[in-house]
Amino acid sequence: MRRALRDRLSLSLSDRLALMFFGVTLLAVAALYLYVAPGLESRLTGQKLAALSGAARAHSGRIARALGSATPARALHALADQAAAASGDRVTVMSVNRALGVAQLAVQLDSSGPSPSTAPELGVARRALSTGRPASGIEETAGGSIGAAARPVRFGDGGIGWVIVFSAPLADVMRTVNTVRHEALAAGGIALALALLAGYVVARALARRVTRLEVAVRQVAGGDFSRRIPVDSADELGRLAVAFNEMQQQLQRMDQARKRFIATASHELRTPVFSLGGFVELLEDEELDPETRRRFLDQVREQVQRLHKLSIDLLDLSRLDSGALELRPEEVDLAELTRSVSGEFEPALAQHDSRLELRLPAGQPILAQCDPVRVAQILRILIDNALTHTPRGTQIVVSARRRDDLVTVTVRDDGEGIDPDVQRRIFEPFYTGDDAQGSGLGLAIASELAERMEGGLRVVSQAGATTFTLEIRG
Ligand SMILES: Nc1ncnc2c1ncn2[C@@H]1O[C@H](COP(=O)(O)OP(=O)(O)OP(=O)(O)O)[C@@H](O)[C@H]1O
Ligand SMILES: [Mg+2]
Repeated sequence: MRRALRDRLSLSLSDRLALMFFGVTLLAVAALYLYVAPGLESRLTGQKLAALSGAARAHSGRIARALGSATPARALHALADQAAAASGDRVTVMSVNRALGVAQLAVQLDSSGPSPSTAPELGVARRALSTGRPASGIEETAGGSIGAAARPVRFGDGGIGWVIVFSAPLADVMRTVNTVRHEALAAGGIALALALLAGYVVARALARRVTRLEVAVRQVAGGDFSRRIPVDSADELGRLAVAFNEMQQQLQRMDQARKRFIATASHELRTPVFSLGGFVELLEDEELDPETRRRFLDQVREQVQRLHKLSIDLLDLSRLDSGALELRPEEVDLAELTRSVSGEFEPALAQHDSRLELRLPAGQPILAQCDPVRVAQILRILIDNALTHTPRGTQIVVSARRRDDLVTVTVRDDGEGIDPDVQRRIFEPFYTGDDAQGSGLGLAIASELAERMEGGLRVVSQAGATTFTLEIRG
């Protein structure tokens, strides 16, 4: 239920990317609107107030001097009008009346017109009066916000007699800020639409490439290795496509090897089974003379032995391939192990007219940490080969020794040697280099086992001397 809901709500990669583009742009627009516009407003207002203070400082000197001397009201008015014209601001002169010890401000003259009773910039003027210093600030009036700068004018005795106020409406500042706000909104809207569109286009392109990978992965999962993904860029997805193509080739090689292995293995199994079937049919003939019957039974035994060895070898190889073959390392005396495995071959050696010479350090063990069963298996494979793939009477030397942390066991024969072209392939499963009727699994198993023991199996061969060396670390 919850999963179904989540599936329904889950967005595609392209939707998410487009939304992310949109979200980031929305944040940028919101920051512009909420941070830049108010900042602009306070900066412009500050500039306006600084300009008013500058104008008040520059133009109030003459008015102050005239106030100090007994200048007629008309002349004072003219001075205020001049200052207003020069600065572009409204100039108001307020007189300070002290009644009952409380200082009151009253408009004495005003450059804007003949109504001296309006005193909209009272707050700033009061501040200048109370601090005795120039003041500036914003005043809210019925006609909107205005900026004002006030300067106190002192009598000869030092007391403040007047306050001169320069003021101007802040409407143009607000207008500029509002224009910027509107333009930011409009630009933001366009940017959002573009971000959504661009995000969708980019995300669609990305999603298309990801989908291509998904399709290819599904094909490989279905066993089809034929289609390569085009590599159209060097970015992460391009590199993923390259890695995917490499993986696909590797899988294809492994798949081919696996199919070849199965085909060869089933062929190898089929041959003795088929031959066994034939002999069983022949043995059913009751008129068979005892001599022929014995010969057939010998053949049957041989085929059964071959099948037995083949099935064990195949099982070992598949376990090694899948990593399921477990090694059981323990401390082993390799001199003793070599001696005992070589001893098993006495009947075979006698049949082959061969002699096996053991070369081991006199009276000393060769201790190593390894799986004795698997080392013995490798040794059997090597000695068996030295007997099977060489002419009668071949001499074999088996030796073992330790050098530092490396133990080597070698099996050498003085047979005809292995051709270099054959040598390159003898460790492949099912490869046989002669017609000795082997199934070609011995050396494949031996080298895999040696590798699993963190060692190795090497061959050096020329006419009259073939040496297989097993190296074990530890
Ligand atoms: N000592 C050797 N002298 C000459 N040729 C050898 C010798 N050992 C191996 N070879 C060659 O290497 C091939 C592969 O050997 P491997 O032991 O893997 O398979 P096999 O002996 O043919 O069959 P299996 O061991 O499975 O019964 C052999 O068929 C043979 O041609
Ligand atoms: Mg062999």
